[in-house]
Amino acid sequence: MSARLILGKEVSDGIYSELRERIVALKSKGVTPGLAVVLVGEDPASQVYVRMKGKKCEELGMHSVTIILPEKTTQEELLKVVSDLNNDKSIHGFLVQLPLPKHIDEDTVINAIDPNKDADCFHPANVGKMLIGNPSFLPATPAGVQQMLIRSDVETSGKHVVILGRSNIVGKPMAAMMMQKGKGADSTITVVHSRTKDIPMITRQADILIVAIGKPLFVTKDMVKEGAVVIDVGTNRIEDPTAKNGSKLVGDVDFDNVKEIASAISPVPGGVGPMTICMLMANAVTAAERAVLLR
Ligand code: GUN
Repeated sequence: MSARLILGKEVSDGIYSELRERIVALKSKGVTPGLAVVLVGEDPASQVYVRMKGKKCEELGMHSVTIILPEKTTQEELLKVVSDLNNDKSIHGFLVQLPLPKHIDEDTVINAIDPNKDADCFHPANVGKMLIGNPSFLPATPAGVQQMLIRSDVETSGKHVVILGRSNIVGKPMAAMMMQKGKGADSTITVVHSRTKDIPMITRQADILIVAIGKPLFVTKDMVKEGAVVIDVGTNRIEDPTAKNGSKLVGDVDFDNVKEIASAISPVPGGVGPMTICMLMANAVTAAERAVLLR
């Protein structure tokens, strides 16, 4: 058996066409949804993400602002930029790209973002609202995974979802979202992490396995139940002497072998990747819609 592929490009195309309609409706009310992205320093991966976010905004006809600050920017200077964005009426949502340079405290910066403009859903007020099942926004990567499941007709109700990884960006919010009542949720959750004893024993019980552990090819075929759905959030660059640039991108799942036993699986690249930016755009549009209602 070879698994059905769950492709973020296809799923995000569907969401983008819905977003385009919502953007047209906003513009007819005189509002262009605006998203700002703040990058401090020169981390190459962050530079790529920030460029992609700006490009997607423009493609969708949204107002896009990218603020690039030097590595030596002080925390105070960054907090002033955050405060200006909080007060900027043309910006409905924004984010500060992580990681930040070591001399800046990430929590202090996240706490300074107006929760109504928190496009990443990283502010503790928004994390709390999500946990109690009354979300203002959803964090982009877990929301993207959930949409992949919903839009690929994967039943989640009553299923055992095993999440590998407990990060604030993916694992923890993913668990919070999948245990809620409602569509794409109603699941029984187990979270597995670096201190878990006998990880394979637990992953083999998963109907749906969501992997965000940051270790290349960590999940092997013997760790997956026959017929399970496997979503791979990992992106790792590993050496590949046969590749032109000497490296290749792989997920946290040994895709070539696991696809033989799973019923559906997301590849890397081409799986979860495109969903994060898509759900970020969705948050910005949602924020703009709310701003219109409050006028
Ligand atoms: N760094 C890696 N992923 C993310 C993300 O989703 N948002 C922000 N702000 N920084 C990140």
